[in-house]
Amino acid sequence: MTKEVTLKHYIQGEVKLSDFAIVDKTLSALQESEVLVKNNWMSVDPYMRGRMIDRKSYIPPFQLKQALEGSAVGIVQESKSQRYQKGDMVLSMKGWREAFIANERELIKLPARAHEEDYLGVMGMPGMTAYTGLLKIGKPKEGECVFVSAASGAVGSLVCQIAKLKGCKVIASVGSDEKVKWLKEVLGVDEAFNYKKHPDLNSILKKVAANGIDVYFENVGGKHLEAAINHMNAHGRIVVCGMISQYNLDHPEPGPTNLAQIIGKRLLLKGFIVSDYDDVKPEFYTQMDKWLETGKVHYKTHVYQGIDKAPEAFINLFKGENIGKMLVKL
Ligand SMILES: NC(=O)c1ccc[n+]([C@@H]2O[C@H](COP(=O)([O-])OP(=O)(O)OC[C@H]3O[C@@H](n4cnc5c(N)ncnc54)[C@H](OP(=O)(O)O)[C@@H]3O)[C@@H](O)[C@H]2O)c1
Repeated sequence: MTKEVTLKHYIQGEVKLSDFAIVDKTLSALQESEVLVKNNWMSVDPYMRGRMIDRKSYIPPFQLKQALEGSAVGIVQESKSQRYQKGDMVLSMKGWREAFIANERELIKLPARAHEEDYLGVMGMPGMTAYTGLLKIGKPKEGECVFVSAASGAVGSLVCQIAKLKGCKVIASVGSDEKVKWLKEVLGVDEAFNYKKHPDLNSILKKVAANGIDVYFENVGGKHLEAAINHMNAHGRIVVCGMISQYNLDHPEPGPTNLAQIIGKRLLLKGFIVSDYDDVKPEFYTQMDKWLETGKVHYKTHVYQGIDKAPEAFINLFKGENIGKMLVKL
């Protein structure tokens, strides 16, 4: 018997605990090439909000009343596969459940690591997103100014540090004073502000980015994007990674009023999905491992305990509760 999280219906507006169900499931006997895995860690990520809406997108909506999906790290308990044996650590998209049976093709074997949850954060999809988005799209040059929104999160906190390692000036927008302190004192960003205390983003950016912004790493959308465009330098690059401020809106907000500046300033705005950049993975793993080993990159996790808490962990991503990667320990 195992527990898993399902969605009762597709969701409009803010997500509520009552939108989810925690159900018991009996696992069947293993067939040839199948493996039984017990998950140790699962990830909750903002992109999952898009899968809770019944619409066409780059990834299909979640199936109602079926276990949700998402990345997870687990340990093989039993195997009828030639490729896996008991005790192997594996990455899968079979999160939101305590244990599961999968075909060997649905798993990736992971090398041992002191903190296995790293594979869901700094050494996983969020790390790859930060590395790829900043370096392959933003292409910051030494001395340039990089502005990052949702800057203390799983992706944003790594973007800030990679930009500093590349010799840039880094400006960070976050939703609490505690986050401002961590970014300045531990991650070494040049400027950080609490956007909830500075709703006039134009005036705060005028002050902290007096010489303009060369790269904007966009995680939030809405007012952040409009203010960033106003302060972009000519030939600036806007890396459109996410727009979390829009994900729970019933009706999309009208776009920024200043898009015409893109022409005069010759700006590049490029959206991306990290899974399109698998060719960057070997470079990313080697480089990030080196940065971690030499103490050049720091990270935090915000951990909930137990499958029952997974919906709450997900919902609280949208309330800014996390510093660093939001995770559930199973
Ligand atoms: N394109 C891709 O392939 C890709 C891959 C991964 C992630 N992403 C995107 O990257 C962004 C960050 O993802 P993540 O996994 O690193 O999440 P995260 O930053 O660890 O967590 C989300 C953070 O967003 C901020 N936030 C929530 N609601 C907000 C709002 N209404 N306005 C402003 N900020 C808000 C909160 O921080 P504050 O306290 O600072 O508000 C919260 O802690 C998301 O937009 C996500 O969709 C894209």
